[in-house]
Amino acid sequence: MPRIYIETYGCQMNVADSELMFGVLGREGYVRTDDPTQADVLLVNTCAVRDHAEQRVLSRLGELKQYKRPGDVLGVVGCMAQRLGERLLGRVPQVDLVIGPDGYRGLPELIARARGGERAAAVEFKTWEHYEDVPPAREISVLAFVTVQRGCDYRCTFCIVPMTRGPERSRKLGDVVREVERLAAGGTTEVTLLGQTVNSYADDEHDFADLLRAVGAVPGLRRLRFTSPYPTDFTDRVLTAMAQTPVVCEHVHLPVQSGSSRVLKRMLRRYDRARYLDVVAALRRAVPGIALTTDIIVGFPGETEADFRETVSLVEEVGYDDAYTFKYSAREGTPATRIPGAIPNDVAGERLERLIAVVRGMARRKNVGLVGTAHEVLVEGKAKRGDLLQGRTRTNKVALFQGSDAWIGTYRRVRFTGTTGSTFTAWPLEPAGELAVVG
Ligand code: SAH
Ligand code: F3S
Repeated sequence: MPRIYIETYGCQMNVADSELMFGVLGREGYVRTDDPTQADVLLVNTCAVRDHAEQRVLSRLGELKQYKRPGDVLGVVGCMAQRLGERLLGRVPQVDLVIGPDGYRGLPELIARARGGERAAAVEFKTWEHYEDVPPAREISVLAFVTVQRGCDYRCTFCIVPMTRGPERSRKLGDVVREVERLAAGGTTEVTLLGQTVNSYADDEHDFADLLRAVGAVPGLRRLRFTSPYPTDFTDRVLTAMAQTPVVCEHVHLPVQSGSSRVLKRMLRRYDRARYLDVVAALRRAVPGIALTTDIIVGFPGETEADFRETVSLVEEVGYDDAYTFKYSAREGTPATRIPGAIPNDVAGERLERLIAVVRGMARRKNVGLVGTAHEVLVEGKAKRGDLLQGRTRTNKVALFQGSDAWIGTYRRVRFTGTTGSTFTAWPLEPAGELAVVG
């Protein structure tokens, strides 16, 4: 049986897409391997959001091509594949196929043709494509990511995603619910709904509020998350659905990008600073205790020191639990490349460092305040280092604690005993009887 190896970069949707590709190829008799030296087909599922992500893939391709034996196939898929198309075939001679996010159904055929010596790029958008009939081949887990919307119709001037993932389309609510029912029947208790602007979800009859309520009612589901929402798509209906659906977790990732209304306008974000803060307040009213995280870009063209300070002050005003911070990366063909006022790399780098220091300080203060509090965690597995277990709260805080491997996949109560600033150490609280065997 042919063996398939997929290496995944970038966002959760890419992780979900790799599961889809395992599904497509599984139907053709392929088996999965985690060892690239043993694979007959090697795929790299890529990200194009920042140049750095693409450079990493190019250097990784230089390594992977060494594992290619005669007859093996090396493919690049995902957003970088979509962006570069045939150019990638010219650039890396060992690459046999290049497939964009709407072309995964064609994998078996393109692989067969590559075996026959044909090199090809498949990068057409298919606005009907939801891979509805392809069951994703997931690792059996208590957690699952479910794509509910593909593509993006927004036009943030810095962003390549509309060009790599095509127009926005939403799956039918009934199809999503059936998938979550199947997952829950198989033991999955936490689901994260995925979309580029997930709360703008709309099938012909239903909005995101309906989707949250319908998925939230699936028996066996204990936690429901979604990522990433767009700030101004939190309608009153969505906020009410979040408040009234008990499984919806108290955490929202709410990308802000900048705290300066002037910069937000140039980014073509559909809110200014005041409107964003209104959304934050509305979320906090609807879901008391909600944790908020965000994405921020520094060094966008024309960003002044005063603009940057507004970003810092917004971060402090909101009091995020955490933030992903990025230096602006110019993406070929995006409108921002035509905005004058490029920020020198050293200035952007220095702003990034200052922002990271503010974010870390804020997260630390917040987390130190939580030491001593008790939380329910889903035990996700072993911690990366040591022999501790790792669990996650509904508010998306990670805690490490001692316990038995049998706890993996179950819910436990723990008390936070300390924090590194970002993650917590914790002590399991119950069931008390089991504590005796921990050691
Ligand atoms: N709507 C999507 C955004 C995908 S890109 C989502 O949140 O799911 C993820 C993040 O990368 C963005 O929120 C933005 O902060 C950052 N990003 C996107 N394009 C960028 C660029 N050209 N340079 C730097 N960061 C960028
Ligand atoms: Fe990109 Fe903006 Fe869409 S960040 S994915 S264009 S909402």
